[in-house]
Amino acid sequence: MQIEIKAVGYTYQSPTLSSIALENIDFSVEKGDFVAIVGPSGSGKSTLAMLLAGLYTPTVGEVLLNGEPAKKNSVFSGVGIVFQYPEQQLFGETVFEEIAFSAKNRGISGQELEEAVFDALGVVGLPLDFAQRSPFGLSGGEKRRVAIASILSGSSEALIFDEPTAGVDLCGQRWLRELANKENSFGKTIFWVSHNMEEVAQLANRVIVLNNGKIVFNGTPQKLFNDGEKVAACGLALTKGAEFLQKLKKRGANIAASAVTLEGAAIETAAWLRGDGHA
Ligand SMILES: Nc1ncnc2c1ncn2[C@@H]1O[C@H](COP(=O)(O)OP(=O)(O)O)[C@@H](O)[C@H]1O
Ligand SMILES: [Mg+2]
Repeated sequence: MQIEIKAVGYTYQSPTLSSIALENIDFSVEKGDFVAIVGPSGSGKSTLAMLLAGLYTPTVGEVLLNGEPAKKNSVFSGVGIVFQYPEQQLFGETVFEEIAFSAKNRGISGQELEEAVFDALGVVGLPLDFAQRSPFGLSGGEKRRVAIASILSGSSEALIFDEPTAGVDLCGQRWLRELANKENSFGKTIFWVSHNMEEVAQLANRVIVLNNGKIVFNGTPQKLFNDGEKVAACGLALTKGAEFLQKLKKRGANIAASAVTLEGAAIETAAWLRGDGHA
């Protein structure tokens, strides 16, 4: 799915106050991109995620999905979202109903629908007897898994994960990253909101940095993390790999210091130690 954001702005309106959350947002994303969205709290990440999902309508500008304006209902627009606080998106009386909602929207019913729901439960690692439970009685992590199962059972071509790994244990974080990677390998476009720069460097082929409702960087993780000053100016931290290589270079090592992941830094350093690194 090709996604274009054209001169988009979003203002929250209340009777007493209007607050500009996003201004002049312009970018486009191709099918199969893995896009990290980063930036300080309050910079507009969740607002952008809601606009991409078609759940918010831009105050100005437009969001185009395969050339068509995004529709209000994300299930039909082909973009699935897991909210930053998944409990805010659950509505079903049972987990079954919750997951079946998106599956029904791709026109399946009966036995096929049941299979789709139980498959999705399996993919997110929840026991099948969860199907009859109320989603509201589940733990935070279980609610997130139900929300993920719900978008996976639909026909989304793009998936948005808003801070999926925040407050999740290490094992759960790894599981979430692997799931997103796998969906991406099937050709789905992924948007991944995160404060974890290691995650961003490992997963994304594109990073969009927001600050104060504006895009302050849009490019590859390599380009971002190779520019220490840019990273600091954006209020972000370098990855461990990039930081290590920068320090090595500062101490006089004749090394290109282009890698940004820890793995990449180890490979680059080993090559340099063997004498076949870059000049
Ligand atoms: N429902 C809302 N009503 C009014 N202002 C809001 C609302 N939601 C978010 N905002 C404001 O919009 C800005 C961007 O918020 P948000 O998109 O949630 O940022 P982030 O996800 O990067 O933390 C912030 O200034 C926030 O206070
Ligand atoms: Mg947010």
